[in-house]
Order: sequence, then structure tokens, then C-alpha cells
Amino acid sequence: MEVENRFITIKEYVQGSPSESDLEVRNGSVVLKVVEGSNDVVVKNIYVSIDPYQINRMKKLSSSQSAINFATRLLPGQGIDAYGIGKVVASANPDFEKDDIVVGLLGWEEYSVVRSAFFLRKIDSTEFPLSYHAGLLELYVTVFYTHIIECRSQIWKSKGEAQEAVKKESIDSLKPLEGELEDKPFYGGKSLGYVDVVLVPFACWFYTYETDNNFSIENECPKLIALVKRYMQKESVSKVLPNPHKVYDFVGLSGLTAYAGFYNVCKPKKGEKVFVSAASGSVGNVVGQLAKLFGCYVVGCAGSKKKVDLLKDKLGFDDAFNYKEESDLKSTLKRYFPEGIDIYFDNVGAEMQEAAVANMNAFGRVAVCGVISEYTDQAKRFAPDMLDVVYKRITIQGFLAADYMHVFPDFISTTSDHLRQGQMHALEDISEGLESIPSAFAGLFRGDNVGKKLVRVSED
Ligand SMILES: NC(=O)c1ccc[n+]([C@@H]2O[C@H](COP(=O)([O-])OP(=O)(O)OC[C@H]3O[C@@H](n4cnc5c(N)ncnc54)[C@H](OP(=O)(O)O)[C@@H]3O)[C@@H](O)[C@H]2O)c1
Repeated sequence: MEVENRFITIKEYVQGSPSESDLEVRNGSVVLKVVEGSNDVVVKNIYVSIDPYQINRMKKLSSSQSAINFATRLLPGQGIDAYGIGKVVASANPDFEKDDIVVGLLGWEEYSVVRSAFFLRKIDSTEFPLSYHAGLLELYVTVFYTHIIECRSQIWKSKGEAQEAVKKESIDSLKPLEGELEDKPFYGGKSLGYVDVVLVPFACWFYTYETDNNFSIENECPKLIALVKRYMQKESVSKVLPNPHKVYDFVGLSGLTAYAGFYNVCKPKKGEKVFVSAASGSVGNVVGQLAKLFGCYVVGCAGSKKKVDLLKDKLGFDDAFNYKEESDLKSTLKRYFPEGIDIYFDNVGAEMQEAAVANMNAFGRVAVCGVISEYTDQAKRFAPDMLDVVYKRITIQGFLAADYMHVFPDFISTTSDHLRQGQMHALEDISEGLESIPSAFAGLFRGDNVGKKLVRVSED
């Protein structure tokens, strides 16, 4: 049966701050049936995640587009892939049945056809509200995972000389993993770690498509496949992964950005002074809550009084301020941190970063998670005083959550425990209906959202 499938697209490449009119709803269609043997799954979307990084995909050119393969450029008229939660309406994949609730890479659309069930995971647990799985407990697509799957697909699609070049490039990029993984422990079983994330897509590749268009992954990467075989035989793995596709049940959660950024990049010590920007946003509010639970002194900034009150009254921040009411950020931060800042969790970049560095203590750490104020204004560039950086021995480090899959098991158990014990709040901001996506997205850059921005596309 073919039904209407409305989706969101950009009309043109976006320049500057996005507005509702940069995006439009288009009518498409989808067949609610799958070809047997294809492993495809058709999902009716329920929640879709609205994230700032999409703006960098909507530009004609952004350095992020070539740096990482899940931030590729979008074309005007094209659908927009995004995390989401939905209900299976048709499945040719043995691991998914009609009416299963799933989370994964879906799209800003009413229905998504997920080829080979790529990166789809069933949500079996009803412990937390469904929407948490697209926010605080969000599924995370790892760099390796997408890279490995992309290599396979490129080899499969290419022919002749072009295929030889693609094969060489893929093997060159995959080979280093052989050495890197050899001595690492497997997690397997209950939770998924870095090794699992890398080995399982190889397992899918090897077991499901042993020979691909004149290319055998076993011949090319024998050590890796030997590891995969060993991995699949491990008791805890074989119990839960009788079939490699089952990996989708175990893949990821996010909030990982906040968790890994705070613990692994900022490397906090109890009692340290922490400053968080965009503190009422999806990542920022979690960072502040984790820092408080860890025993730090935490100040956040946000763009309205309502947000500032929420940080102090509900989320337990020690203090907070509205940066839009401040004319001299360096002296503002001096006021809030008379003894200096030890950790700055940067979500906004530009002048706030400059002011934070000016107020940092010796051996301070700046985790550059995002620079949202620079996404919409490419001319906006500020530079921290490099003498401060040298003489105060400050570390400024950019990071992506995908680099921290090895902390994944800790992240899951810690965050779930905090939620269970009521020590942490999940802050969500949900708009209704597919047609609200343009304003939900543009609103991120006006500061409309409080917490994780989601759009409910259909009823739970
Ligand atoms: N490194 C990673 O792996 C990773 C992963 C996820 C997200 N990120 C980055 O982390 C940052 C936060 O993302 P999120 O998903 O949590 O979004 P979010 O904070 O929920 O939403 C964006 C917020 O940023 C603030 N903002 C918008 N424009 C601004 C500007 N020009 N100057 C200062 N603040 C501005 C607004 O709050 P106010 O009212 O406070 O202005 C807005 O609500 C983004 O930079 C994002 O790209 C990085």
C-alpha cells in the first residue's frame, strides 16, 4: 500500500541564522511494504530529534561536512536524516516485527525506510519515557560504525577501476583497526563498548555478505575477521548476539556527549569550579547536573530569566546568569568566579570562550563541545589570549562524543542510576507535528528551546 509521506527539506543552502522559511514541508510517498529478503524496515516516526549540527549540513560548504561522515552536506529537496523513535509498520528483517518500537537514524519525515535495518535498535524497556531515548538516552551513531558500513556500501556500488581505488582506500582506513583492537577487552553481553562497536559491523559484513562484489573482507583483513570470529564465540556475546544483526539491540545511548565531555575531556576534581554555556540546553543541562553530582561548584549561563531560574531552582546549579544582559563578559565571569574557573564546558564559542579563558586558573581545561554562535556567523571569530593559554597551561580541547564509545557502559549505568534515584532531571522540549520542525529547528538558534528539543510527529 502506498501512502503519503510528508518530509522536511531545505529550499536552498542556508546562510546565516536559519529561519522557518529556509525549510519546507514536501509531499512524498512511501510503500508500506518491504521486499522479502531485503532486511529493510519501514518505520512510522513518533519522535524526531532536532539538533544544532544539522545547520552545518545545510550550508553549501562547511569544514564539518568533510571531517566526519554523519555530518555530510544536505541537498535542497533532499530528505534530512535525523535520530528518532518510531513504530515498525513493515519489516523484512527477522529482528523486527510490526509494532516494535525502535530508535535509530530515521528522518524529519512521517515514515522512514531503513535499509537493511541500518542502525536500528528495538526499545524493549519501558522503564523510562519513550522520548528519553531520543534525548538524554539518545542513540549514538559512532564514527567507526558508519565508516565501516559506508566502506562496504561504496565497494558494493563501485565497478572496475573505480572499485579498485575504493577498495584500496577502504582497506587503508580499516587496517589500522587490526592492531588497535588486538589487546582491548571485549565487553559483549550486557553492554556495548568501543570494541563491540567496531567488531559487530564487521561481523555483520562478514557473516551476512561474505563475498561482496569480488571482495572478501576476510581476505583483506584476516586479523580483524579472526577477532570477529573469536568475539562471536565468546559466551556472553553468542548468547545475546546469536545473529550479528542483534547488535542493534545493544547499540548506544547519548547524553554521552555531556558525560564523556565532562569526565573524559574536562577530567574534573571534586570542588573544582565549573562554568557551562548554553546551560539549559540538551547537552549543557546534563553537564551541569553531572558536575553538581560529582561535587563541583557549577555556574551556567543561558539566554533568559526563565532559563536562569530553572538552572538554579530545579537543576541545582550553584549560580546562573543571563548572558544577554551582560555587556562585558570578562568582568561578568570575574564576578561569578572570583577564585577563577577550573573547567569551562563550551557549547557556544566566540566571545564567551575568550572571556572564560581570561578567567581560567592555572591548568584549567576547556572542553569545546560546540560553537553554536559561530555556526550562523562564519565571520565571527574570537581568539583567547594565547599568553593566558601558555602561562596558565590551559588545555583547550575539541571533542566528539563518538570518540568516547569506550566509556559507553559507564555512561549507561551511571545515568540510568541517577535517573532512577531521582538525582537527575531529564529536560525535554517537545513540539507537536511534522510541520513544527522548521520552527523547532530555527528556534534552537534563537534560544527558544529549554532542554532537549524533539518533535512528536505522530502519537506514542
Ligand atoms: N561534540 C559533540 O559530540 C556534540 C554533540 C551534540 C551537540 N554538540 C554541540 O553542543 C552544543 C549544544 O547542543 P545541544 O544539542 O545541547 O543544543 P541546545 O543547547 O539544546 O540548543 C541550542 C541552545 O544554544 C543557545 N544558543 C543559540 N544560539 C546562540 C548564540 N548565538 N550564542 C549563545 N548561545 C546560543 C540557545 O540557548 P540560550 O537561550 O542559552 O541562548 C539554544 O537554546 C552545540 O554547539 C552542538 O553543536 C556537540
